[in-house]
Amino acid sequence: MRAYYYDNIPGDQRLPHDYVPSRPVSEDTLDKINVKHWTIPVEGYESKVNALAQERGYKNRDTINVSKEGLGEVYEQKIKGFFEEHMHEDEEIRYILSGSGFFDVRETPTDAWIRLAVEPGDLIVLPAGIYHRFTLDEGNCIKALRLFQDEPKWVPYNRTADTDVNPHRVNYLKSVGVGA
Ligand code: LAC
Ligand code: NI
Repeated sequence: MRAYYYDNIPGDQRLPHDYVPSRPVSEDTLDKINVKHWTIPVEGYESKVNALAQERGYKNRDTINVSKEGLGEVYEQKIKGFFEEHMHEDEEIRYILSGSGFFDVRETPTDAWIRLAVEPGDLIVLPAGIYHRFTLDEGNCIKALRLFQDEPKWVPYNRTADTDVNPHRVNYLKSVGVGA
């Protein structure tokens, strides 16, 4: 997985949006915003993903195929929704099986976008309360396992003044040492 600052230049969200020269983001910076990442080769991934899921208490999972074929009629609408800046009240856990895409996460307190370019074998955990969004890249498809701690809570809360005071958001800010 490559992590770098998003260039904020208007244009197709599927393009890399890498600064020239690139501004890479270190593991240390990802640690500071509590974004976790593992690489588990797809060949024979089951036992390793199962072990990690057990260790971290991820009891449920499903597979999502984000592509025109995979999503059918709701494709355009889903793609648009995924790219709206939002948060969840639970961790967002993804293991990439095939294809690729970009998760953008907000750095705190700078509010800069950090782009995570994910590919097969990447497992990422976005903490509850972090603002983020997702887009396909120019390959236009990604297949991922979605892991859940308990019952899937898939409500995305788009960023507003209300989400700024959501208890999960406030806890997140505390956990990264921002806010009271
Ligand atoms: C989600 C990703 C796209 O909420 O952020 O499913
Ligand atoms: Ni999300």
